[in-house]
Amino acid sequence: MKKKSPTSAQKKRSASTHDKHSVTDYKNPLRQYHPATSVILAGYRAGLSEYSVKAPVFRTSTFEFHSSKEGELFFQRAYHLKGDDGKEPGLIYSRLNNPNIEIVEDKIVAAEKGANCALLFPSGMSAITTSILALLPQGAKILYSDPVYGGTYLFFKEFCPHRFGIKTIPVDTSQLSQLKKVLKTEGPFDMLYIESPTNPTMRLSDIQECARLAKESSNGNTLVVIDNTFMGPVFQQPFLLGADLVIYSATKFLGGHSDLLAGVCLAKDKSLIKKIQDYRTILGPTPAPDVAWLLSRSIETVWVRMQRQAEKATKIANSLKKHPAIEHIFYPGLLPEQSKKIKSSDLIEQARIFKKQCLGPGSLISFKLKNNTRQAAYTVLDALKIFHLAVSLGGTESLIQHPRSMTHADMTPSDLDRAHIYEGLIRISVGLESSEDLIEDLTQALDHLI
Ligand SMILES: Cc1ncc(COP(=O)(O)O)c(C=O)c1O
Repeated sequence: MKKKSPTSAQKKRSASTHDKHSVTDYKNPLRQYHPATSVILAGYRAGLSEYSVKAPVFRTSTFEFHSSKEGELFFQRAYHLKGDDGKEPGLIYSRLNNPNIEIVEDKIVAAEKGANCALLFPSGMSAITTSILALLPQGAKILYSDPVYGGTYLFFKEFCPHRFGIKTIPVDTSQLSQLKKVLKTEGPFDMLYIESPTNPTMRLSDIQECARLAKESSNGNTLVVIDNTFMGPVFQQPFLLGADLVIYSATKFLGGHSDLLAGVCLAKDKSLIKKIQDYRTILGPTPAPDVAWLLSRSIETVWVRMQRQAEKATKIANSLKKHPAIEHIFYPGLLPEQSKKIKSSDLIEQARIFKKQCLGPGSLISFKLKNNTRQAAYTVLDALKIFHLAVSLGGTESLIQHPRSMTHADMTPSDLDRAHIYEGLIRISVGLESSEDLIEDLTQALDHLI
């Protein structure tokens, strides 16, 4: 069958190697710009697609080779059959790679200070689990911050030790004395895995100090992994603080509209990403091109969304602190003031970490009710009119949920108590509605308790 003649833009593509759509690579030329600029410029060259300013969706499962020799070469590269010649394998099949996936991976690298490479996954959990299984052998040891998101907790508590022979130990990394103790008694560890702020208690860990201590106890061999979902690239830059891997549930702020599921793993070191990529290829958690396209649309607005959401969350936290039904608010933006008023050494330390490593407060707020019961929490949740009673976070709409019975329901009662996930703890994700409307809605719901 005669092939259709190529368009002028297609003719420009090299016959021997498929051009990556990206203009960024591991030596990222866009580093000169602010990440809010680079994230818009990175990942796509209009000239490769009829000069369309926005990338089309490459909704295809497979790609045609120019010749048999080229097909052989691409597979040799994808499966490292002749070692690593440093070249991209070219487009083969969408479980291995796809232009939309590569475009969004490059955009995410541009957004994350200190990152050199990234891999996209179909959920945050697949980013977490595939990365860990790719990097750690049986018999390895993980030290993880306590608490973590409920799904991550179950993977560490049940799956790692019982299915994969990986030992896991939780520790409250927000308290450096506890970290030091575990490193001394149980170390060294192959991986230190930290959520900061923690989901849902909003505890901050000093990432730089935790990374230094963990690496010091293992001659530099501990991989430091940060789940940066809550702060995003806008408010926290873990690679500048010593992280080796940064993980996101891109379902949250990077996606930003509660209309997709995705996850990302970023690294400084390309060899780590290559190992994880091999696992993604064979275990198969590669996202669909449509999801990658949606995410590349969303990530261009991540700065403006996260900054506006944080402004609104600050107004809400300041208003909630006056409400008589609330005992304590867990919100990084309130730490400087709380540490001055309450003067506990813990709050002073939390405020120090906030000042040191966060570029903003984010838009997640948890609060503990004075009436510390599930009944009281449900009374508030069921009285709201604007907030959606739903799990997840980081979207344009405000969400509210009860962690103990919802996102963290898989934790044992004793683990919930140890992590201070109380019956009367409520978590909100502030969206982009008017802060006045949101304050009015929360106030009328909380008023039911007084
Ligand atoms: C901090 C954090 N990490 C990871 C995940 C898992 O992400 P996903 O739901 O996209 O699999 C979540 C989900 O809520 C989360 O909050």
